[in-house]
Amino acid sequence: MKAILVTKDEDKYGAELGEVNESDLPEGDVTVQVDYSTLNYKDSLAITGASPVVRKFPMVPGIDLAGTVDDSSHAEFKAGDRVVLNGWGVGEGHWGGYAQKARLKGDWLIPLPETFSTKQAMAIGTAGYTAMLCVLGLEKNGVTPDQGEIVVTGAAGGVGSVAISLLAKLGYTVIASTGRANEADYLKGLGASDIIDRNELSEKGRPLGKERWAGAVDAVGSHTLANICATTKYGGVVTACGLAQGFDFPATVMPFILRGVTLAGIDSVMCPKPRRIEAWNRLAADLNLDHIEAMTSEISLADVVATAPKQLEGQTRGRIVVDVNA
Ligand SMILES: NC(=O)c1ccc[n+]([C@@H]2O[C@H](COP(=O)([O-])OP(=O)(O)OC[C@H]3O[C@@H](n4cnc5c(N)ncnc54)[C@H](OP(=O)(O)O)[C@@H]3O)[C@@H](O)[C@H]2O)c1
Repeated sequence: MKAILVTKDEDKYGAELGEVNESDLPEGDVTVQVDYSTLNYKDSLAITGASPVVRKFPMVPGIDLAGTVDDSSHAEFKAGDRVVLNGWGVGEGHWGGYAQKARLKGDWLIPLPETFSTKQAMAIGTAGYTAMLCVLGLEKNGVTPDQGEIVVTGAAGGVGSVAISLLAKLGYTVIASTGRANEADYLKGLGASDIIDRNELSEKGRPLGKERWAGAVDAVGSHTLANICATTKYGGVVTACGLAQGFDFPATVMPFILRGVTLAGIDSVMCPKPRRIEAWNRLAADLNLDHIEAMTSEISLADVVATAPKQLEGQTRGRIVVDVNA
């Protein structure tokens, strides 16, 4: 079957489309016939080797997949069940979604909600499920639409696009921070009320600034996250999930000790199963499928290696679905 393989020999790192046998698949109690995978920021890091995401070689990357169970000795799954997988180190330490089949631990799988096709599930992917985890993070910390605006950074990317759509549908007023002014119509179409230039947030700022937002979904990190915390209203909540600007956090404690701001960390990879199921069920209830369609482009397995560097350079928009059988 077709698969992308990442290899590392001495210092030479490479990724290319090739073939693997089903007998080469790693151990697991469920084998899945994969319909679609996706290209997330982390997948692009794995493909290019820009960060040490891959921990074992050769590796079939792809942190997400959706498909149908082929064979299972796991109590919860049987042949024919539609499933979705996000994270758990798949595509990093265990062969992942960029192959026509995957063998996995059944404990990692989520039954795919009826509402979604396998393609829609991958249009959501880890980026969309993480956006939902961020929304849950705001809700669980008490942020309601009447408290004020929510800023979303990395707005035209995958996490950002889904977060805007979800928040707007739930009644929040969303401010989209982007480096791409030409995507203003796209972002307003997803529900953003206003657009700000990401340069307003990306430089070293003051420990505290004028109070602007009741909450935030930050996919960017670094000075942007620090500035957002410094400009969050009294009692507001900042959910931090990404590092597109950088993994540093050059901030002070001032927003936390003088304004009671909460910084809520969001991790999708090792997130416990009940929280994942909650997130997928909320996506099924709250996500506008027309928006998902509008924010998604499709590529074949053969296109993945060439698309990854473009994603890291911020040239791709929204979500990218990978048809592993094309
Ligand atoms: N915590 C988790 O479990 C988790 C899960 C999923 C993703 N993530 C992280 O979340 C981030 C976003 O993931 P994604 O899949 O949405 O990636 P993506 O589609 O590539 O979007 C990233 C966006 O960040 C913005 N950006 C890029 N470079 C930037 C820079 N130097 N400074 C400021 N903004 C920049 C761009 O948006 P604009 O063009 O609109 O400015 C870009 O579209 C990544 O860091 C990823 O690793 C974490």
